[in-house]
Amino acid sequence: MKQDTLLIVEDNVLLRDAIAEMLTMDGFFVLTAGNGEEALSQMESVSPDLILSDISMPVMDGFEFFHLIRERQEWLSIPFIFLTARGDQAHVLTGKGLGAEDYLIKPVNHTELLTAIRARLSRSQQLRLARLREAYQASLTVLANAIEVRDRYTRGHVERVTAYAIVLGEQLGWSGKQLEDLRYGAILHDIGKIHIEEMTLQKQGPLNHNEWVIMQQHPVIGANMVKNIPFLSPAVPAVLYHHECWDGSGYPHGLKGNEIPMMARVVAVADAFDAMTTTRSYRQAQSIELAFKELVKGEGTLFDPDVIEAFKKCWHQDKIQEIFKAWNTNNHLEQTPKQRFQ
Ligand SMILES: [Fe+2]
Ligand SMILES: [Fe+2]
Repeated sequence: MKQDTLLIVEDNVLLRDAIAEMLTMDGFFVLTAGNGEEALSQMESVSPDLILSDISMPVMDGFEFFHLIRERQEWLSIPFIFLTARGDQAHVLTGKGLGAEDYLIKPVNHTELLTAIRARLSRSQQLRLARLREAYQASLTVLANAIEVRDRYTRGHVERVTAYAIVLGEQLGWSGKQLEDLRYGAILHDIGKIHIEEMTLQKQGPLNHNEWVIMQQHPVIGANMVKNIPFLSPAVPAVLYHHECWDGSGYPHGLKGNEIPMMARVVAVADAFDAMTTTRSYRQAQSIELAFKELVKGEGTLFDPDVIEAFKKCWHQDKIQEIFKAWNTNNHLEQTPKQRFQ
């Protein structure tokens, strides 16, 4: 496990050494500085996981040090705890007003110090992880959207399918990891289309036999692309099986009913709804009301009845319409479908 680095900024050498020794014994890597300026120069080479700083110090006091830390983007999220002299209420209030995470009154008690440090570290780790996850999802969406650059008809498809799938998953009572896997599955479901020629993706009118055979390979190609990436492998069921149908008439394996992983059955409904309500190279978009009726017609044949039930509930709560409107306020939609789901 990574050893957390703490920076102790305190001009009282005895106190600083005592705190440093105590925290080193607790398993932290401890850096020390006698004032804000010294601390800043230390931070140019090592960025600590948490700062514990006195307020009254020569050269640069704790408040000025805190200000300078928060001015730097890369140091903005480092938890900062002030050490203050007993009864110094004005200092406590100023520190809180500045937005410091916590303050401790000197002389500090070991348990109190350790509790405050651990609480702040774990909170900042959670935030870091959440930010990392967000950045990760954003890069995945960019990658998935690479298909959209080649196929102008599917602009926003990935984001809308993901949004529809998530409301369906929530309606089905999913949460946590299950919902997260569904999100990755929806983002990546068409990733295999990256290997399909632009001419085929953008073809006006129906595909010929050969083109159709190639198009039907995109779930298999996509699944092969992501299956060996540990973080993405939970998306494989959605990628591989999102074109399977409840009655066994889908592709690539012709799976039936419960043989189709649940995540894929959810993505299939979200995907079909978006395909019907957006203009594609081979047909115009239809209205969401018509698309809703079409989906309901497919209950028990093309689609899992439980997922369609969830879709109906989301529809009656306007959740589907809200996603559609959010994406289509500036888009021109036309009617008359020539072909149903792709
Ligand atoms: Fe697909
Ligand atoms: Fe799709």
